[in-house]
Amino acid sequence: MATTPLHFAERMSRLGTESAFDVMVRARALEAQGRDIIHLQLGEPDFDTPAHIIEAGIEALRNGETHYTPPAGIPQLREAIANEVSQTRGVTIEPDQVVVTPGGKPIMFYLILALAGPGDEVIYPDTGFPIYGSVVNFSGATPMPLALREENDFRFDLDELRALISDRTRLVIINSPANPTGGVLTDEEISELARLAVKHDFVVMSDEIYRKIVYGDFEQPSIISYPGMQERTVILDGFSKTYAMTGWRLGFGVMPRDLALQVTRLAINCNSCTPGFTQLAGVAALTGPQEPVEQMVAEFQRRRDAIVAGLNDIPGVTCNLPLGAFYVFPNVSHYGDNIADYLLNEAGVAMVDGTSFGAQGKGYLRISYANSLENIEKALERMREALLKM
Ligand SMILES: Cc1ncc(COP(=O)(O)O)c(C=O)c1O
Repeated sequence: MATTPLHFAERMSRLGTESAFDVMVRARALEAQGRDIIHLQLGEPDFDTPAHIIEAGIEALRNGETHYTPPAGIPQLREAIANEVSQTRGVTIEPDQVVVTPGGKPIMFYLILALAGPGDEVIYPDTGFPIYGSVVNFSGATPMPLALREENDFRFDLDELRALISDRTRLVIINSPANPTGGVLTDEEISELARLAVKHDFVVMSDEIYRKIVYGDFEQPSIISYPGMQERTVILDGFSKTYAMTGWRLGFGVMPRDLALQVTRLAINCNSCTPGFTQLAGVAALTGPQEPVEQMVAEFQRRRDAIVAGLNDIPGVTCNLPLGAFYVFPNVSHYGDNIADYLLNEAGVAMVDGTSFGAQGKGYLRISYANSLENIEKALERMREALLKM
């Protein structure tokens, strides 16, 4: 049957994507042909959700928590989140400043749509999580990528930040520890950004989804703790990474009350609410034992050390030591472009090309070390062999 092509709305041409999912599809297609693939492309812990959290979810289902819930989240979870954020960021957060969503991602979408439109400018990290730029473009606002460079340990340069700020700046997005680099922002960058936010009256969205996945004695400062920032900060956080709960879809935003009302209106128009049993599992995660998180982070640190050493050992590859998240971002520019494709086809190792995270990612790879030490060692061997024969 001949079909007439559909006409899509103009805005769809401005929407980007997240390539890690495309790589996963291609890697699985190769596996279906019998190839052995090592998966280092996905941004999710390979650990199971801790047992007590699973039990809380099952119990909630058995207790009939299968109905609609309040759009901004159930009171128990909003309260547990407000307590946790108050304690860890040294500020006083009330439950009505919390909006619970199915994953942290909807907070980005709702917040950018609530704050920015044509004529506004939004500054966000390049390289950075690809959805920031995608949604900024979709909103009609002007994207203002802020470079993060290897030589600066993937932190932004303060002069470059100042040069991007104008009277049209509505929102600045930061993410620390960062996807895709594992880099962290320190007091030096955060305090200056806070000063500029107050001076120029813009909002900062601080994506803190990897906040608890940090190494050594590094502690991640949060911009909400700085003077004048409580009324202009949105914290994006969630359960996916910290509690290995990616598939549960549970995240949240913490923000000024008036903004929380607008974000909740967007949620009502889109997802209505977040499942009650998932939220009760979230309460168990926040209020229960934290040892599983500590064990997971300790294991990630062992893998980080192994993968950074292994990559730096490959001639022509350099790799910084990240202080957080579970990604490394090695420089492979010595070997040219499209290295991720080459390594998938030639070595059977799946990872994401750096350009999927912004123009600054050219010549880099994002490798997730959310896989066993044994598979990481095997992947390093295969990568070395494939690169050296290029
Ligand atoms: C930087 C960053 N923010 C937010 C998210 C969203 O996570 P989720 O929607 O699973 O909570 C991710 C997931 O990969 C991420 O890497």
